[in-house]
Amino acid sequence: MSIRWSIETHNILSSTQRSLLERKDLSEGLVVQAYSQQAGRGRYGREWFNAEGNLFLSFALQPAIEPERFGQISLCVGLAVLRTIKDYASTAPVVLKWPNDVLVDDKKISGILIESKTVDHKDAPFLIVGIGVNLNSAPDEQFASLKDRAHKDIDVDSFRDKLLGAFSIIYNQLITEGFEALRKQWLINSYHKGQHIAVKIGEKKVSGQFVDIDRFGYLRLICDEDNKMKTVSSGDVFLV
Ligand code: BTN
Repeated sequence: MSIRWSIETHNILSSTQRSLLERKDLSEGLVVQAYSQQAGRGRYGREWFNAEGNLFLSFALQPAIEPERFGQISLCVGLAVLRTIKDYASTAPVVLKWPNDVLVDDKKISGILIESKTVDHKDAPFLIVGIGVNLNSAPDEQFASLKDRAHKDIDVDSFRDKLLGAFSIIYNQLITEGFEALRKQWLINSYHKGQHIAVKIGEKKVSGQFVDIDRFGYLRLICDEDNKMKTVSSGDVFLV
């Protein structure tokens, strides 16, 4: 049961995410890709680097799983991006940073934004999955590009097709077999595991040792404050 992708490409859009969120005809597998964006959005309303030659796409999913498992999807998307990057640069030190950043050499190469949309209250909500990957350029020294690691120009559409193929396999595994094997895969490739971290959750900051990802895809850490295990469902992670 693989996803049937229906890909729409545009030379330029304000944001693929915004464009897909506004659609009335959502269906699972609908992909909106732009070769450049004017106002790409990141998590928490941040901006995303919009240079031509990079990958900007959003796709719709309607997963037949309980909403409390949606965090698993976000980790699965990160895993698909990691596998696709490794396909181009097998020796590059690619890691996953919870919840859904992909880094190379400690520098962000890809960002993922997932938002939900209910079209009809009788039906399961859609997830709108937005992915940006710095394929041929990066905004500055703090970010990585795949071109630098693969030592060649990266064809955007080939990368897109490989990424959608990789995600389709992972998603099928999630739906048919569950999350456990994927959770382990994610952890093998995870950044910060076992390390002392801080998580910014809105205005609050919690620090502690990152010990695990739970069966919903949430982060588990032993808090400095009370030495107790805490589960975090969203936030930004920093090394401290
Ligand atoms: C983040 O790391 O904050 C998430 C960045 C997500 C950027 C992508 S680019 C394609 C899609 N369209 C958008 O406007 N945002 C996402």
